[in-house]
Amino acid sequence: MPRYEIHGGTPLEGSVTISGAKNAAVAIIPAALLVNGVCRIENVPDISDVHNLLNILTQMGARIRREAGGIVEIDCTDVPYTEPDADLVRKIRASYYLIGAQLGRYGKAKVAMPGGCNFAPRPIDQHVKGFTALGATVLEEDGMVDARPGPDGLRGNRVNLDVVSVGATINIIIAAVLVPGQTIIENAAKEPHIVDLANFLNTMGARISGAGTDVIRIKGVKSLRGGFYSIIPDQIEAGTYMAAVAAVGGNVMVNNVIPKHMECITAKLREMGATVTEYEDAIRVQRTGRLRRATVKTLPYPGFPTDMQGQIGVCMTLAEGVSRITESIYETRFFAYCDEFTAMGANIQVNGKTATITGVEKLYGASVAAHDLRAGAALVIAGLAAEGQTFVDNIHYIERGYENLVGKLTALGAKIRRVED
Ligand code: EPU
Repeated sequence: MPRYEIHGGTPLEGSVTISGAKNAAVAIIPAALLVNGVCRIENVPDISDVHNLLNILTQMGARIRREAGGIVEIDCTDVPYTEPDADLVRKIRASYYLIGAQLGRYGKAKVAMPGGCNFAPRPIDQHVKGFTALGATVLEEDGMVDARPGPDGLRGNRVNLDVVSVGATINIIIAAVLVPGQTIIENAAKEPHIVDLANFLNTMGARISGAGTDVIRIKGVKSLRGGFYSIIPDQIEAGTYMAAVAAVGGNVMVNNVIPKHMECITAKLREMGATVTEYEDAIRVQRTGRLRRATVKTLPYPGFPTDMQGQIGVCMTLAEGVSRITESIYETRFFAYCDEFTAMGANIQVNGKTATITGVEKLYGASVAAHDLRAGAALVIAGLAAEGQTFVDNIHYIERGYENLVGKLTALGAKIRRVED
């Protein structure tokens, strides 16, 4: 099994370029099923979640062409209704967007329940609420989601989400774009990748307004045409490198970012004593002295992202004083890394939704295992900051969402290798 071997303690220096946003790409690729024509998409990250989704679309009959430099062409013209391969679907979370895409395109959908990182219960009742509001009858049985048109067919409607859900907001947008009438999503999520998906669909001829606010309006159109779209930079990948510099020390220019998307992370790292300088599409992070304690509460965008919880957690393990993280999206997420941090010398106590972290002078290398994508990234940062040698196992989780992590870190002077156990 491949694992990462890390020799910690070398400050990070140089520059790193951020790839396209995973969580935008994994929404845009299934949404291409709605399009009658060729979607030429740029800045597609080279990660296993994307490979899996492209394999699913290929299996469904799409013609896909990949070019160097993160360009993917997807042509779903004339793709007949096909059930996506259940084994492939179960490999990733975002395969649930195929339900919205099939429903929108064919008026019916049958897709296996999604897989992906299982750091907490991840229900899809709000997705189902949206599909039902559009007129579908949705059954969940034998590990499958089966959505069919109800007696009056599909029609735009008002959906008020009970919880702010990224996935449900995206899935309802995808399902509604080709449905006659107006759909209004209230209490919608506002993450940058929701805006990116809406921009992609609007470029192809959809009529979506309000993405990025908590009320999104979708006026159904008859068809979408092909076109060109460039995916935004990945907020969490950028935040991961920023946190890495804060934890490990050094001076790094993080290129290809949208500084506005990073504000919450930037503010927290500054509060902790890192120097963060914003440019038009880059951010420089420098850290020399010891970090200071902080408190973080994870929230939907524009709040502090839950996907950065572990990475900021590493910074806290080394900061002076007692820090706190309150997790308000996925309560059980601490368990994905808490024991591993402790094995490396961190002092972390979890009580329900709150982790209390008392900073230590040093972390020490250990053999640890990733239990999900972001916890895995946090362990890599911890290994880079620690004294001695760290092995990180289960790196397939990390490779779901970080393009060329080893190459990018090596270019910053980190001593990290992908080795076979
Ligand atoms: N929720 C429900 N019912 C639903 C959907 C969600 O109760 O039908 C709850 C969840 O249990 C959670 C909260 O609502 O407590 C928010 O969940 P959300 O639907 O926003 O999460 P998601 O769409 O499943 C996406 C990202 C995650 C990220 C979360 C939160 C993708 C593919 N995944 O998940 O990203 O943590 O939003 O921002 O976009 C990652 O990239 O590593 C990752 C896990």
